[in-house]
Amino acid sequence: MDKKTIEKKISDLRDFLNRCNYEYYVLNSPKISDYEYDMKLKELEKLETENPEFFDSASPTQRVGSYENQEFKQVKHKYSMLSLANTYNEGEIRDFDARIRKLLPSGEDFEYVCELKFDGTSISLTYENGRLVRALTRGDGQKGDDVTSNVKTIKSVPLKLYSEGYPKEFEIRGEILMPHSSFEKLNQERTEIGEPLLANCRNAAAGALKTQNSSIAAKRGLDCYLYYLLMDNLPSDSHFENMKIARSWGFKVSQNTVKAKNIEEIISFINYWDKERYNLPYDIDGIVIKVDKISLREKLGFTAKTPRWAIAYKFKAEEAAVKLLSIDYQVGRTGIITPVANLEPAHLAGTIVKRATLHNEDIIRSLDLHENDTVYIEKGGEIIPKITRVDLTKRVEGSKPIEYITKCPVCGTQLVRNPGEAGHYCPNYMGCRPQITGKIIHFVTRKAMNINCGEATIEMLFNVGLIKNYADIYELKVSDLESLERFGRKSAENFVKSVNDSKSVPFERVLYALGIRYVGEGAAKSLVKTFKNIDNLINASKEELSKAQDIGEIIAESVFSWFRNNDNILILNRLRSVGLQFEIAESEAENQIKSDKLSGKSLIVTGSFSSPKRREELEEMVTLNGGKLQSSVNAKTDFVVAGEKPGASKIKKAGELGTKIISEEEFLEMLK
Ligand code: IVH
Repeated sequence: MDKKTIEKKISDLRDFLNRCNYEYYVLNSPKISDYEYDMKLKELEKLETENPEFFDSASPTQRVGSYENQEFKQVKHKYSMLSLANTYNEGEIRDFDARIRKLLPSGEDFEYVCELKFDGTSISLTYENGRLVRALTRGDGQKGDDVTSNVKTIKSVPLKLYSEGYPKEFEIRGEILMPHSSFEKLNQERTEIGEPLLANCRNAAAGALKTQNSSIAAKRGLDCYLYYLLMDNLPSDSHFENMKIARSWGFKVSQNTVKAKNIEEIISFINYWDKERYNLPYDIDGIVIKVDKISLREKLGFTAKTPRWAIAYKFKAEEAAVKLLSIDYQVGRTGIITPVANLEPAHLAGTIVKRATLHNEDIIRSLDLHENDTVYIEKGGEIIPKITRVDLTKRVEGSKPIEYITKCPVCGTQLVRNPGEAGHYCPNYMGCRPQITGKIIHFVTRKAMNINCGEATIEMLFNVGLIKNYADIYELKVSDLESLERFGRKSAENFVKSVNDSKSVPFERVLYALGIRYVGEGAAKSLVKTFKNIDNLINASKEELSKAQDIGEIIAESVFSWFRNNDNILILNRLRSVGLQFEIAESEAENQIKSDKLSGKSLIVTGSFSSPKRREELEEMVTLNGGKLQSSVNAKTDFVVAGEKPGASKIKKAGELGTKIISEEEFLEMLK
């Protein structure tokens, strides 16, 4: 292909993928499968890597973010970013309506627009020539943080507009949200690695937007709804129309907006969403009522802080006062104890609630929870509600404060709480039933060994004494299984086949399947990449372990002690003897230039290099040659590999600390 044809091909692929993004994330009606999308994206990635001269920061390939640590520049807003006046009752909305009517010439005909009040964090996007050039947070209303690189990773935010007719330059404002599904996934991951849980979707969205590493922001599953177009000559005098037009340019604009002629219509919209909000996949905390006509808005103007043409009606958080009946303590597969409150059943937000999460001892303490207390429960983003406070007026005299358990509720072993950790755990991992079955269940899951069987089957095999740990699975024969309930000849054969197939599952998934505390998929990948085979991993010291990318002291300690335990080694040896993968696949290993030339050295790679992917390649070379990759410069940094436009703060810090700054060529020379 000649260069002209390649350029055309790249441009067509970008347009096609942009269109697919719009159909998927904005219109909610994808026209192609995820697989087809991924294939096209890969094709584009390949062409862009081979032809770096056609690099474009608005390409759909640029949504993955970067590992580069960023600092957020403060930038002045072109139009100040105001807030809204809040009300909590119908009377105040009537006052708002009366105020507006008084300020407008009598008889002037006007309409309101009622919108959902998204509960996230506000954002202002600037587009120039159809491209996203800047994304600013509200900040103090006058200046905001430049979070463009994080916002670029949000798939529903167009990097490039299509459909002709958009203005040369404009701003559009809206809300960045974390949908419930992303929030639950994130908190689940945090539970698995022992991190404190995030309180609600709003905090989680704000936190994700401010992560310094945009590749992390990219994984947070954020969404963005737009509700305010700003420019000198708006396309229409109606806000409602303007937002419809913005939607046709590629923006995600809510379909739940309506026009209202009078207070009654506003109130019925409020009442409808007060109930219906629980069926939305994200949080809203109220309704925004806006004057529709832009020319009327101009007449009404602003107070110092808020526009006179809009008001927010905030929903009361739906809560219920219920009696605390008891507390259950659940034991997870890694022994983590989770307290759960059993409550007198109550109606809350359209469902009957009987249980509430308490998370850990500190939360019970901070609520000062007593036996038989009456507690308020509230529903946030999570499916299971939380206890927000105790109704002290209903406290039963003489009732005792809840005492956290000290022994495992299942096996009676003394619980342990490590310094710096919020949770207690039961250390009896070989003898505590939910830990044993939980570990086997984790071992067979799709992301681990992908053995075709469910939880109930594992529980049953354990009950009848056929398995006591996950190595036992590999000893099961068709004749052991076929006569069991849930099995027949055919499903027994399928099960044994699936067990056999799992012997080719790659090492990184086997390592994840072992269920070592804090070793999630990411940590397993990183350990395999650094240590290549199980013997290197077994023999690694804590210091060596913590040199692998993203492996901190807690994970290193956990891995180190897992391999120092005889029971674990016995099980591991059985898994080795049946033929599971305990080293990195040869094809992968061949691609790696292995050496220990950088052993004991800490490096950082910053700036842009000859091709868009080059920095990642250089970073990979650091770890492949035994070095530790850092994300910011500190006293431990040995070298900063700097390309063009390196991070200013990194170079400054390196200068202050006297850290050696080297070029790509010098770095490659070191590896020779
Ligand atoms: S309009 C001049 N519309 O609520 C003010 N804001 O409490 C323009 N919000 O800062 C804002 N949904 O972050 C508007 N449909 C909506 C909204 C909305 C959520 C947020 C926004 C604002 C805050 C005020």
